[in-house]
Amino acid sequence: MTLSPVDEAIASRMSARAFTSQPVPKELIEQLLQVASRAPSGTNCQPWKVYVLQGASRNSLVEQVCTIHDAMRADPTLVPQYAEEYDYYPQKWISPYIDRRRENGWGLYGLMGIGKGDKDKMHEQHQRNYRFFDAPVGMMFTVDRAMGRGSLLDYGCFLQSIMVAARGHGLHTCPQAAWNGFSKVIMPHIGAGADEMLVCGMALGYADESAVVNTFHTPRVPVQDFTTWLD
Ligand SMILES: Cc1cc2nc3c(=O)[nH]c(=O)nc-3n(C[C@H](O)[C@H](O)[C@H](O)COP(=O)(O)O)c2cc1C
Repeated sequence: MTLSPVDEAIASRMSARAFTSQPVPKELIEQLLQVASRAPSGTNCQPWKVYVLQGASRNSLVEQVCTIHDAMRADPTLVPQYAEEYDYYPQKWISPYIDRRRENGWGLYGLMGIGKGDKDKMHEQHQRNYRFFDAPVGMMFTVDRAMGRGSLLDYGCFLQSIMVAARGHGLHTCPQAAWNGFSKVIMPHIGAGADEMLVCGMALGYADESAVVNTFHTPRVPVQDFTTWLD
Protein backbone atom coordinates (compact mmCIF):
# COMPACT_ATOMS: atom_id res chain seq x y z
CA MET A 1 0.00 0.00 0.00
CA THR A 2 1.29 3.47 -0.81
CA LEU A 3 1.87 5.96 1.98
CA SER A 4 -0.04 9.23 1.89
CA PRO A 5 1.82 12.47 2.70
CA VAL A 6 0.32 12.31 6.20
CA ASP A 7 1.47 8.70 6.58
CA GLU A 8 4.94 9.80 5.45
CA ALA A 9 5.07 12.58 8.01
CA ILE A 10 4.01 10.21 10.80
CA ALA A 11 6.30 7.39 9.68
CA SER A 12 9.34 9.66 9.28
CA ARG A 13 9.02 11.02 12.81
CA MET A 14 11.70 9.63 15.05
CA SER A 15 13.35 10.81 18.20
CA ALA A 16 16.38 12.72 16.94
CA ARG A 17 19.21 12.90 19.45
CA ALA A 18 21.65 15.13 17.58
CA PHE A 19 20.73 18.45 15.97
CA THR A 20 22.57 21.05 13.93
CA SER A 21 22.81 24.64 15.13
CA GLN A 22 20.63 25.84 12.22
CA PRO A 23 18.12 28.21 13.78
CA VAL A 24 14.37 27.68 13.47
CA PRO A 25 12.50 30.88 12.59
CA LYS A 26 10.09 32.02 15.29
CA GLU A 27 7.28 32.25 12.71
CA LEU A 28 7.76 28.58 11.86
CA ILE A 29 7.66 27.50 15.52
CA GLU A 30 4.52 29.58 15.94
CA GLN A 31 2.96 27.93 12.88
CA LEU A 32 3.73 24.44 14.23
CA LEU A 33 2.08 25.34 17.51
CA GLN A 34 -0.90 26.88 15.76
CA VAL A 35 -1.40 23.77 13.60
CA ALA A 36 -0.90 21.48 16.61
CA SER A 37 -3.48 23.45 18.55
CA ARG A 38 -6.05 21.82 16.23
CA ALA A 39 -5.42 18.64 18.24
CA PRO A 40 -8.55 17.27 19.89
CA SER A 41 -9.06 17.55 23.63
CA GLY A 42 -11.91 16.40 25.84
CA THR A 43 -14.70 19.02 25.64
CA ASN A 44 -12.14 21.23 23.84
CA CYS A 45 -10.39 22.10 27.13
CA GLN A 46 -7.04 22.58 25.31
CA PRO A 47 -5.07 22.04 28.52
CA TRP A 48 -1.66 22.75 26.97
CA LYS A 49 0.65 25.56 27.93
CA VAL A 50 3.93 25.87 26.03
CA TYR A 51 7.20 27.61 26.87
CA VAL A 52 9.64 28.03 23.98
CA LEU A 53 13.26 28.43 24.99
CA GLN A 54 15.89 29.79 22.62
CA GLY A 55 19.12 31.73 23.00
CA ALA A 56 20.05 32.83 26.50
CA SER A 57 17.01 31.33 28.25
CA ARG A 58 17.73 27.95 26.66
CA ASN A 59 21.45 28.10 27.37
CA SER A 60 21.16 29.10 31.00
CA LEU A 61 18.62 26.34 31.72
CA VAL A 62 20.95 23.84 30.05
CA GLU A 63 23.85 25.00 32.21
CA GLN A 64 21.84 24.89 35.44
CA VAL A 65 20.41 21.42 34.87
CA CYS A 66 23.68 19.91 33.58
CA THR A 67 25.44 21.21 36.69
CA ILE A 68 22.83 19.60 38.96
CA HIS A 69 22.91 16.38 36.94
CA ASP A 70 26.68 16.18 37.44
CA ALA A 71 26.33 17.00 41.14
CA MET A 72 23.73 14.22 41.54
CA ARG A 73 26.16 11.77 40.07
CA ALA A 74 28.91 12.86 42.45
CA ASP A 75 26.53 12.84 45.43
CA PRO A 76 23.58 10.42 45.01
CA THR A 77 22.00 11.70 48.26
CA LEU A 78 20.85 14.68 46.15
CA VAL A 79 18.72 12.48 43.89
CA PRO A 80 15.53 12.46 46.04
CA GLN A 81 15.43 16.28 45.85
CA TYR A 82 14.74 15.98 42.14
CA ALA A 83 11.73 13.70 42.04
CA GLU A 84 9.25 13.74 39.14
CA GLU A 85 5.90 15.26 39.88
CA TYR A 86 3.94 12.45 38.28
CA ASP A 87 4.78 8.85 37.49
CA TYR A 88 5.53 8.71 33.82
CA TYR A 89 6.78 5.15 34.16
CA PRO A 90 5.34 2.35 36.31
CA GLN A 91 6.62 1.86 39.86
CA LYS A 92 7.08 -1.80 39.08
CA TRP A 93 8.04 -2.92 35.58
CA ILE A 94 6.52 -6.03 34.01
CA SER A 95 7.00 -7.89 30.73
CA PRO A 96 6.71 -7.17 27.85
CA TYR A 97 7.30 -3.47 28.61
CA ILE A 98 10.49 -3.91 30.57
CA ASP A 99 11.87 -6.08 27.74
CA ARG A 100 11.09 -3.43 25.15
CA ARG A 101 12.57 -0.76 27.40
CA ARG A 102 15.78 -2.74 27.80
CA GLU A 103 15.98 -3.48 24.10
CA ASN A 104 15.59 0.22 23.43
CA GLY A 105 18.19 1.34 25.98
CA TRP A 106 20.83 -1.20 25.08
CA GLY A 107 20.16 -0.75 21.37
CA LEU A 108 20.91 2.95 21.67
CA TYR A 109 23.92 2.51 23.94
CA GLY A 110 25.24 -0.32 21.75
CA LEU A 111 25.04 1.88 18.67
CA MET A 112 26.99 4.56 20.53
CA GLY A 113 29.61 2.00 21.61
CA ILE A 114 28.62 2.34 25.27
CA GLY A 115 29.09 -0.91 27.19
CA LYS A 116 27.23 -2.03 30.31
CA GLY A 117 29.91 -0.93 32.76
CA ASP A 118 30.69 2.37 31.06
CA LYS A 119 29.04 4.66 33.59
CA ASP A 120 30.87 7.81 32.44
CA LYS A 121 29.71 7.48 28.86
CA MET A 122 26.18 6.60 29.99
CA HIS A 123 26.08 9.71 32.12
CA GLU A 124 27.35 11.80 29.20
CA GLN A 125 24.81 10.34 26.78
CA HIS A 126 22.02 10.85 29.30
CA GLN A 127 23.17 14.40 29.89
CA ARG A 128 22.73 15.19 26.21
CA ASN A 129 19.03 15.32 27.09
CA TYR A 130 19.79 18.37 29.22
CA ARG A 131 21.45 20.06 26.26
CA PHE A 132 18.33 19.43 24.17
CA PHE A 133 20.70 17.24 22.12
CA ASP A 134 22.15 20.56 20.86
CA ALA A 135 18.85 21.60 19.28
CA PRO A 136 18.52 25.39 19.14
CA VAL A 137 14.93 25.20 20.38
CA GLY A 138 13.74 23.63 23.60
CA MET A 139 10.12 23.50 24.64
CA MET A 140 8.56 22.90 28.02
CA PHE A 141 4.95 21.82 28.37
CA THR A 142 2.87 22.33 31.47
CA VAL A 143 -0.67 21.55 32.54
CA ASP A 144 -2.86 23.12 35.19
CA ARG A 145 -2.73 20.99 38.33
CA ALA A 146 -6.52 21.29 38.59
CA MET A 147 -6.95 19.19 35.45
CA GLY A 148 -7.59 15.45 35.47
CA ARG A 149 -5.59 12.54 34.09
CA GLY A 150 -7.49 12.83 30.81
CA SER A 151 -5.58 16.03 30.10
CA LEU A 152 -2.48 13.92 29.61
CA LEU A 153 -4.35 12.11 26.81
CA ASP A 154 -5.12 15.48 25.26
CA TYR A 155 -1.48 16.39 25.69
CA GLY A 156 -0.35 13.29 23.83
CA CYS A 157 -2.48 14.32 20.85
CA PHE A 158 -1.02 17.83 20.99
CA LEU A 159 2.59 16.71 21.30
CA GLN A 160 2.30 14.24 18.44
CA SER A 161 0.71 16.95 16.30
CA ILE A 162 3.71 19.23 16.91
CA MET A 163 6.10 16.41 16.05
CA VAL A 164 4.28 15.44 12.86
CA ALA A 165 3.81 19.05 11.77
CA ALA A 166 7.55 19.55 12.33
CA ARG A 167 8.29 16.73 9.87
CA GLY A 168 6.26 18.53 7.23
CA HIS A 169 8.84 21.34 7.41
CA GLY A 170 11.94 19.13 7.46
CA LEU A 171 12.34 19.53 11.21
CA HIS A 172 12.86 16.81 13.80
CA THR A 173 12.01 16.54 17.45
CA CYS A 174 12.70 14.52 20.55
CA PRO A 175 10.03 14.42 23.25
CA GLN A 176 11.76 14.41 26.62
CA ALA A 177 10.50 13.17 29.96
CA ALA A 178 14.11 13.37 31.15
CA TRP A 179 13.50 16.95 32.25
CA ASN A 180 10.64 16.05 34.56
CA GLY A 181 12.76 15.52 37.64
CA PHE A 182 14.11 19.03 37.36
CA SER A 183 10.82 20.89 37.54
CA LYS A 184 11.86 22.84 40.62
CA VAL A 185 14.60 24.45 38.51
CA ILE A 186 12.65 24.63 35.27
CA MET A 187 9.36 26.07 36.52
CA PRO A 188 10.80 29.27 38.05
CA HIS A 189 13.15 29.60 35.08
CA ILE A 190 10.29 29.64 32.56
CA GLY A 191 8.04 31.70 34.80
CA ALA A 192 5.40 28.99 35.28
CA GLY A 193 2.98 29.43 38.14
CA ALA A 194 2.57 27.21 41.20
CA ASP A 195 -0.70 25.97 39.66
CA GLU A 196 1.17 24.38 36.77
CA MET A 197 2.81 20.96 36.53
CA LEU A 198 5.60 20.10 34.09
CA VAL A 199 4.41 17.47 31.59
CA CYS A 200 7.65 17.07 29.62
CA GLY A 201 10.14 18.87 27.44
CA MET A 202 10.93 18.61 23.74
CA ALA A 203 13.93 19.34 21.53
CA LEU A 204 13.16 20.89 18.13
CA GLY A 205 15.48 21.63 15.25
CA TYR A 206 17.16 20.23 12.17
CA ALA A 207 18.57 16.74 12.72
CA ASP A 208 22.28 16.22 12.23
CA GLU A 209 22.03 13.64 9.48
CA SER A 210 25.70 12.67 9.91
CA ALA A 211 25.27 11.69 13.58
CA VAL A 212 25.37 7.95 14.26
CA VAL A 213 22.80 8.32 17.04
CA ASN A 214 20.22 9.42 14.48
CA THR A 215 20.55 6.13 12.61
CA PHE A 216 18.84 4.45 15.57
CA HIS A 217 15.53 3.13 14.31
CA THR A 218 13.17 1.58 16.78
CA PRO A 219 11.08 -1.51 16.02
CA ARG A 220 7.33 -1.79 16.48
CA VAL A 221 5.12 -4.66 17.49
CA PRO A 222 3.10 -5.89 14.45
CA VAL A 223 -0.54 -4.81 14.28
CA GLN A 224 -1.80 -8.35 14.76
CA ASP A 225 -0.02 -8.54 18.11
CA PHE A 226 -1.84 -5.59 19.66
CA THR A 227 -5.18 -5.72 17.84
CA THR A 228 -8.21 -7.89 18.47
CA TRP A 229 -10.70 -7.95 15.62
CA LEU A 230 -14.26 -8.54 16.70
CA ASP A 231 -16.91 -9.38 14.10
C1 LIG B 1 6.49 11.47 26.36
C2 LIG B 1 7.81 10.94 25.88
C3 LIG B 1 8.95 11.19 26.60
C4 LIG B 1 10.19 10.75 26.13
N1 LIG B 1 11.32 11.09 26.82
C5 LIG B 1 12.53 10.85 26.26
C6 LIG B 1 13.70 11.36 26.88
O1 LIG B 1 13.66 11.99 27.93
N2 LIG B 1 14.89 11.15 26.27
C7 LIG B 1 14.99 10.46 25.08
O2 LIG B 1 16.10 10.32 24.57
N3 LIG B 1 13.88 9.96 24.47
C8 LIG B 1 12.67 10.16 25.03
N4 LIG B 1 11.53 9.70 24.41
C9 LIG B 1 11.65 9.03 23.11
C10 LIG B 1 11.39 7.54 23.18
O3 LIG B 1 12.49 6.86 23.68
C11 LIG B 1 11.08 7.09 21.73
O4 LIG B 1 9.88 7.71 21.34
C12 LIG B 1 10.91 5.58 21.57
O5 LIG B 1 12.10 4.91 21.87
C13 LIG B 1 10.49 5.25 20.13
O6 LIG B 1 11.46 5.74 19.21
P1 LIG B 1 11.12 6.82 18.11
O7 LIG B 1 10.56 8.04 18.77
O8 LIG B 1 12.45 7.12 17.47
O9 LIG B 1 10.13 6.25 17.16
C14 LIG B 1 10.27 10.04 24.90
C15 LIG B 1 9.10 9.74 24.23
C16 LIG B 1 7.88 10.18 24.69
C17 LIG B 1 6.64 9.89 23.90
